[in-house]
Amino acid sequence: MSNIEVKKYWDNDTTESMYDKNLLEIETEAVLAFLDRSDSVIDIGCGEGEGTVRYFEKVRELLALDYSETRLEKLKSKNSKIDTIRMDMREVSCESTKKKFTKAITQRSLVNLESFDEQKKAIKAIHSLLEDAGRYIMLEGFNDGVTVVNKIRTEFSLPPIGVKWHNVFFNKKELLEFTRPYFELVEERDFSTYFFMTRVFNAILKHPNIPKWDDEVNMLAKKMEIAYKNRFIKGISRLELLVFKKR
Ligand SMILES: C[S@@+](CC[C@H](N)C(=O)[O-])C[C@H]1O[C@@H](n2cnc3c(N)ncnc32)[C@H](O)[C@@H]1O
Repeated sequence: MSNIEVKKYWDNDTTESMYDKNLLEIETEAVLAFLDRSDSVIDIGCGEGEGTVRYFEKVRELLALDYSETRLEKLKSKNSKIDTIRMDMREVSCESTKKKFTKAITQRSLVNLESFDEQKKAIKAIHSLLEDAGRYIMLEGFNDGVTVVNKIRTEFSLPPIGVKWHNVFFNKKELLEFTRPYFELVEERDFSTYFFMTRVFNAILKHPNIPKWDDEVNMLAKKMEIAYKNRFIKGISRLELLVFKKR
């Protein structure tokens, strides 16, 4: 994947940041649980702001960052009061934002960088933007969950679900080794109930047809995920939410 192609993808007016709106709602609720009224937040790779507009309502102040003018225009059309900054997340610093933040969010945005080395640059930039003991709320894709989903799918004769051409998912162990000197991991959440019910259970049920995003079982899976989180089903989530405290 080339950086230019990925940028072109996000600059395309018809691209949507997230097609699975049930999953988007689950993610947004999960992020909201870690935000407070007193927070000053930077949402990095905010996209068209489907989550951002909700975060903005909950916190004291919020700056939305994206490198795509198309994405920022879409966000502005949802809420023109939100401050935005257009730049590459790897280059952001306190000089560009003019301030530090109590919390930084990345919601499926680091996975758009072309390698782990580039993702590490972005994580270091995020670290520099946070106040002492500030929190980095990282909701990103992990190969660990992809492998588990696909192992079960293969056992039930379903095709694997790959990582999209413009994404590079994390390996959790490798990520945590890198972040250790910069951050303490203080909270972890995944969405195993939702991924099991939609990408395995409902997929088996409806095979060979592919269930629609708004299929009734997917809607039920969203309710189950929000009500029970991963209390009963664990370890099968393509996305994870990690909360890091700045060291
Ligand atoms: C999958 S979308 C996520 C949008 C939003 N966070 C959400 O949860 O719906 C990824 C976003 O990251 C942005 N992005 C990708 N690479 C970037 C970079 N190097 N610098 C800034 N933004 C970037 C894209 O323009 C896109 O808006």
